[in-house]
Amino acid sequence: MSTDAPADPASQLPAEPANPRADQGESALPTADAAYWEAAAASFDDEPDHGLRDPAVRAAWAARLRSWLPSAPAAVLDLGCGTGSLALLAAEQGHRVTGVDRSPRMIAQARGKLAGRDAAFLVADAAEPPVGEQRFDVVLVRHVLWALPDPAAALRRWAGLLAPGGRLVLVEGRWGEAEPVGIPAGELTDLVGPLAARTRVEHLSHDPVLWGKEVTDERYVLIAELPRRHTEVVDVHLVLRRGEEVLLARRSGTGYADGLLHAPSGHAEDGEDVREAMIREAAEEIGLRLTPGDLRVGLVMQHCAPPPARPRIGWFFEAEYGAGGEPWNREPDKCAELAWHRLDALPDDMVAYCRAGLDGLRAGHRFLLHWHRPGDAVAHDPSAPSRAVSLDGARPGG
Ligand SMILES: C[S@@+](CC[C@H](N)C(=O)[O-])C[C@H]1O[C@@H](n2cnc3c(N)ncnc32)[C@H](O)[C@@H]1O
Repeated sequence: MSTDAPADPASQLPAEPANPRADQGESALPTADAAYWEAAAASFDDEPDHGLRDPAVRAAWAARLRSWLPSAPAAVLDLGCGTGSLALLAAEQGHRVTGVDRSPRMIAQARGKLAGRDAAFLVADAAEPPVGEQRFDVVLVRHVLWALPDPAAALRRWAGLLAPGGRLVLVEGRWGEAEPVGIPAGELTDLVGPLAARTRVEHLSHDPVLWGKEVTDERYVLIAELPRRHTEVVDVHLVLRRGEEVLLARRSGTGYADGLLHAPSGHAEDGEDVREAMIREAAEEIGLRLTPGDLRVGLVMQHCAPPPARPRIGWFFEAEYGAGGEPWNREPDKCAELAWHRLDALPDDMVAYCRAGLDGLRAGHRFLLHWHRPGDAVAHDPSAPSRAVSLDGARPGG
């Protein structure tokens, strides 16, 4: 096996078979063999687009990389990083790089190039990077995916390593003309499509400075942006029961639903579980010193006030009167009154979703949706259509 690492992956293959990916499976690729890259490491950087020694080639890659990576300092995972040429450009642009390669000699060179920089390198399989719970803003992969045994599985794994809003930057191609190897941009777009919110292909063949020569085969970068994960505020509500009655608070001076009756409630804060949030809110609003054992979950509801409000997850906890002491109005600037009301004869001047939650509890529901439509009022309106939908479902055998 040659120890030279040619610029074009096509020339890293023996003459036959022409296209092992299509004809014989990945096991036929010499590049699938870790020893191949270990042997290639010493001269890998001799090729212009590997070593980036020519200032013009280096500047061309630096400019492209700058446009592909986030403008703010980001966590970049460079998989199959080789001798670390792109990792070094990324680090020079202010990013923190973690490089992974199966070849210890490649990694040794990468460590040397990035010595003293904010970078870490691991000898490991790029298809299963051992990065634990760490998440990255960018997974950067140049000329590696095409030679992996299962590119689709690797892409799924890599997408899972991205932080919300992160991106895959995949520099790939279909090299050689008579007997090309690699992944055409269309094929990679189809593979990445189901994982991404948006994909963009930038063709790179027409820019000879990147390669240190004219090329006519297919070379490109595919940038896949992942969807930002949806997040919701979690709110907690106390249904304090005294026989047939529940305690309601009349909102005042809060800017939301003022004048209406509502269960004592608030938002869970970062790092709090919902029970801790309920205990804290009950103490802050009505002076109760509840313990975890005082609380049971009555109902969970995803609710959304009229547009443009965002949806929330509401937990309704029940507790019995007497637990934690005597309730009193600790926040008179936000609450005009506390009063007991019969659960089977609730007043109309209530926040609509809270009323739906209490009605749902009385009817034995555990899970509800309450999704306002445009034009709905925040206040309960007995003449308006109910927006409550039970998600309890039928129980097997029930
Ligand atoms: C063509 S070189 C590209 C190096 C680098 N990405 C660059 O663009 O300069 C391919 C690199 O992928 C590495 N590689 C191939 N298969 C790998 C795998 N399964 N896990 C980790 N590294 C792998 C090789 O050791 C080699 O360093």
